[in-house]
Amino acid sequence: MNKLLEIKHLTKNYITNALEINAIKDLTFDVYEGEIVSIVGTSGCGKSSLLSILAGIDKQSSGEFSFLKDKDISIGYMLQSDSLFPWLTIYENAILGLKIKKEDTLENKDYVKNLLDTYNLGEFKDKYPNELSGGMRQRVV
Ligand SMILES: Nc1ncnc2c1ncn2[C@@H]1O[C@H](COP(=O)(O)OP(=O)(O)OP(=O)(O)O)[C@@H](O)[C@H]1O
Ligand SMILES: [Mg+2]
Repeated sequence: MNKLLEIKHLTKNYITNALEINAIKDLTFDVYEGEIVSIVGTSGCGKSSLLSILAGIDKQSSGEFSFLKDKDISIGYMLQSDSLFPWLTIYENAILGLKIKKEDTLENKDYVKNLLDTYNLGEFKDKYPNELSGGMRQRVV
């Protein structure tokens, strides 16, 4: 099997109020194509920190990781908290990224509407986040 992801000696420290928290300490492992990997551990052990680093949302303090594949790899990452804006409808939340990037073309907006249908959210598109269940909100993200 092809190796897809290589993580070597990854460390993440957060510094807040002159206090240093070591969230990830010298983490090394590989992931192979076709594998389903679960990251399991007690609350606060660094799971979200790791995923944020792999998704490019945050930076590691030391160590390295690389995705080893010729073809482009796209990463889907469902955040722990959904971060939907409460004053925007489900549809408005869903197209916000396109709007910011000025890519809210008719074609792209249709694509988003289709995605909402695919995830059984079509009939909720004009509702606000507080009218949806936790699982539905995560599907919007
Ligand atoms: N932005 C941050 N600033 C400071 N400390 C942080 C930050 N994010 C996480 N931490 C700390 O890093 C450690 C790991 O947090 P992380 O969110 O990665 O844990 P987790 O394994 O995802 O926990 P949970 O299962 O509760 O979601 C915790 O001690 C947490 O307090
Ligand atoms: Mg977490």
